[in-house]
Amino acid sequence: MKNPIRVAVTGAAGQIGYSLLFRIASGAMFGPDQPVILQLIEAPVEKALKALEGVVMELDDCAFPLLQGVVQTSDASVGFKDANWCLLVGAKPRGPGMERADLLKDNGRIFIEQGRIIDAVAATDARVAVVGNPANTNCMIAASQARRLPADRFTAMVRLDQNRARTQLARKAGVHLTQVRDIFIYGNHSPTMFPAFAHATVSGRPATSVITDNAWLQGPFCEAVGKRGAAIIAARGASSAASAANALVDHVRSLMTPGAIHSIAVKSNGHYGFDANVWAGMPVITTTPGSYEVITGYAMDAFAQSKIAATNKELVEERSFVAEMLG
Ligand code: NAD
Ligand code: LMR
Repeated sequence: MKNPIRVAVTGAAGQIGYSLLFRIASGAMFGPDQPVILQLIEAPVEKALKALEGVVMELDDCAFPLLQGVVQTSDASVGFKDANWCLLVGAKPRGPGMERADLLKDNGRIFIEQGRIIDAVAATDARVAVVGNPANTNCMIAASQARRLPADRFTAMVRLDQNRARTQLARKAGVHLTQVRDIFIYGNHSPTMFPAFAHATVSGRPATSVITDNAWLQGPFCEAVGKRGAAIIAARGASSAASAANALVDHVRSLMTPGAIHSIAVKSNGHYGFDANVWAGMPVITTTPGSYEVITGYAMDAFAQSKIAATNKELVEERSFVAEMLG
């Protein structure tokens, strides 16, 4: 029997948590022979903690053979203790009339504290994946507090956007989505993100030679992927949850699978024209479980460069809103 992986999850009683925890406990994230211990962290709010109790009762009732323990707490230093993976899902949602800068600052305070505590108490091999919005900048903020853990351990999720883009391309080409490969997301998890269709393939051919409607690729396709989150909120009355949890399972599983090529948001070192020290989506290849290298070789045409410049501008702006908090 392998040693269990300790997985800390914030916002564990929220919508995404409700789809995510059962997938982790069933083996979907780390494999069918990998035991896990779930360390569930909620805000110190009576209603949320009560809801978490109910979720843990349901985990018990699933009798998952791989689930070796569950911690439930509102104390982050307990929840992140010795965690191998820290999944930062919980965040303050945008309230009515709230400016983006206010949201960034409110969440900034949460992610500064969580980054500091993770750095102090998590396992030496700890990896962090941020989902709570604004995910890229929250990830940058958490990483800014780390002195022990290197910055490349902190990633934010753009996999939902990659999955969305893949499905849209498959629909347009009239093929099954398994025929669509190498569609990667650049930049922010926001409507400015860029799904780089020119590098994608459909049934082994360049996507642009199968989908020759370039106006669709540059316009409605990019827009549909970028605004899919808002479309789901408009239809469901709530943010995407099951598909977001599924994307986080994909994000972590790909990061644990050497040779996997996928999009994650990572610290920029100037790749593809992103400012150094913003966390931007880009393609990576997993090298060893939990580690990766950025794939730097994709050529960008003028259209791609303008899209990357726009999403980079937004990331730099978000960073400037929280600059004074970073210390
Ligand atoms: P939700 O409101 O249902 O749940 C969030 C939970 O986080 C709540 O239970 C809340 O009590 C908890 N929480 C708040 N502050 C916390 C803290 N400091 N510590 C621990 N827990 C805390 O929201 P949800 O639908 O689960 O979504 C969670 C986040 O994920 C939101 O920010 C949402 O916008 C984001 N999201 C991101 C993506 C993506 O692709 N990156 C996709 C969908 C949703
Ligand atoms: C999504 O892409 O579905 C979410 O990030 C939308 C949101 O604002 O929660």
